[in-house]
Amino acid sequence: GEPAMSIFSEVPQAPPVAVFKLTADFREDSHPQKVNLGVGAYRTDDSQPWVLPVVKKVERLIVEDSSLNHEYLPILGLPEFRSAASKVALGEDSAAIKDNRVGGVQALGGTGALRIGAEFLRRWYNGVNNTATPVYVSAPTWENHNAVFADAGFKDIRPYHYWDAAKRGLDLSGFLDDLEKAPEHSIFVLHACAHNPTGTDPSQDEWKKIAEIMKRRNLFVFFDSAYQGFASGSLEKDAWAIRFFVSEGFELLVAQSFSKNFGLYNERVGNLTVVARDNENLTRILSQMEKIVRTTWSNPPSQGARIVGKTLNCPELFAEWKDNVKTMADRVLLMRDQLKAKLQALGTPGTWDHITQQIGMFSFTGLNPKQVEFMIKEKHVYLMASGRINMCGLTTKNIDYVAQSIHEAVTKVQ
Ligand SMILES: Cc1ncc(COP(=O)(O)O)c(C=O)c1O
Ligand SMILES: *[C@@H]1O[C@H](CO)[C@@H](O)[C@H](O)[C@H]1NC(C)=O
Ligand SMILES: *[C@@H]1O[C@H](CO)[C@@H](O)[C@H](O)[C@H]1NC(C)=O
Ligand SMILES: *[C@@H]1O[C@H](CO)[C@@H](O)[C@H](O)[C@H]1NC(C)=O
Repeated sequence: GEPAMSIFSEVPQAPPVAVFKLTADFREDSHPQKVNLGVGAYRTDDSQPWVLPVVKKVERLIVEDSSLNHEYLPILGLPEFRSAASKVALGEDSAAIKDNRVGGVQALGGTGALRIGAEFLRRWYNGVNNTATPVYVSAPTWENHNAVFADAGFKDIRPYHYWDAAKRGLDLSGFLDDLEKAPEHSIFVLHACAHNPTGTDPSQDEWKKIAEIMKRRNLFVFFDSAYQGFASGSLEKDAWAIRFFVSEGFELLVAQSFSKNFGLYNERVGNLTVVARDNENLTRILSQMEKIVRTTWSNPPSQGARIVGKTLNCPELFAEWKDNVKTMADRVLLMRDQLKAKLQALGTPGTWDHITQQIGMFSFTGLNPKQVEFMIKEKHVYLMASGRINMCGLTTKNIDYVAQSIHEAVTKVQ
């Protein structure tokens, strides 16, 4: 007889994820000078992905190591990854680590760390039912922040002031004002460094002001650290805000991603750090996180965590990794300098100092949606509708073409 209607015929088509859609459009474009400034990953000066030399080396060590197997890992992760001498986020001499009140959960990327952290907060932060606790995310932010907290059950997700479009910089007074007005115990998601998408971070003095209000008003901080090393080339400098908050006595969460700074995007390596008041409280927190992980992915994958763990636990490999990170950060800095210089040489209207003031992989160009459309349709230069570009999409070969395209977009399209 007739096949029955599918029981899924009412499932609506979900919209594509903007950044992956942009890359698909780019692939289909056959223009010889096309450029993709949309991707959220590092590219070499030949527009290629980069396997860090230290990662290649450790991958070989892993292949040759006959003591390794593919047994399940502990639910909270590979021990050598979880401890990893705590060199990265908090610093080797962190008092919180010495006090035994810092714990880590291996997660599936920074996203997984955010999701487990959000789920834990919804269940256990400040009472059992937290669906009504406000969660503040920066305006603008990485678009997944909203969805991750919404999927964890939070019902009241609000933007806080961050980007001042006219100034092309941080809206500090708007930010501080939102901190003053937020209900006590609200959760604030803060980008630890290299803010995505604006490339604009608070200065150390500004972080101190932010911390002062957060402490006084009992606001909770959840750091998202996806670009450590990319902002300045130094792991220490880029962790300054996190370490400052910890030194000020905050109990907090940090979602750490190793996707960008190890170039391990598809291995899904992340770490959720918990800084608690004392070891007794930490132990109970971790026991609840273990329950959440058990029903989410049950058991984390090992390859990426082994690479990161081995690298961080061996002084020579650790030094080599820091060098590799600096190579990436320096290329970004070079492209910033050159793009600014080229736009200034072309006499492109407007100021372009923000290109070199911003840091990390991304820059918020200030191009409006119509100018972005012109860049894509007329110049085959792909970038996010927000005007965000990935600085590593620029190379010494395409930078003249991109600068000229931006010049035309700004002068021809209002
Ligand atoms: C701000 C921010 N947080 C988290 C992530 C997630 O990283 P991962 O790929 O490790 O999940 C990204 C990735 O683009 C990001 O930009
Ligand atoms: C994961 O987080 C814990 C707690 O902060 C830390 O001790 C550990 O070093 C981190 N692991 C890595 C690989 O950074
Ligand atoms: C939690 O609180 C929200 C809003 O305050 C409410 O809608 C929801 O039903 C509550 N859930 C439980 C399990 O109590
Ligand atoms: C940690 O948890 C215990 C309960 O197990 C509590 O008695 C103690 O006061 C907590 N520590 C702090 C600093 O709150």
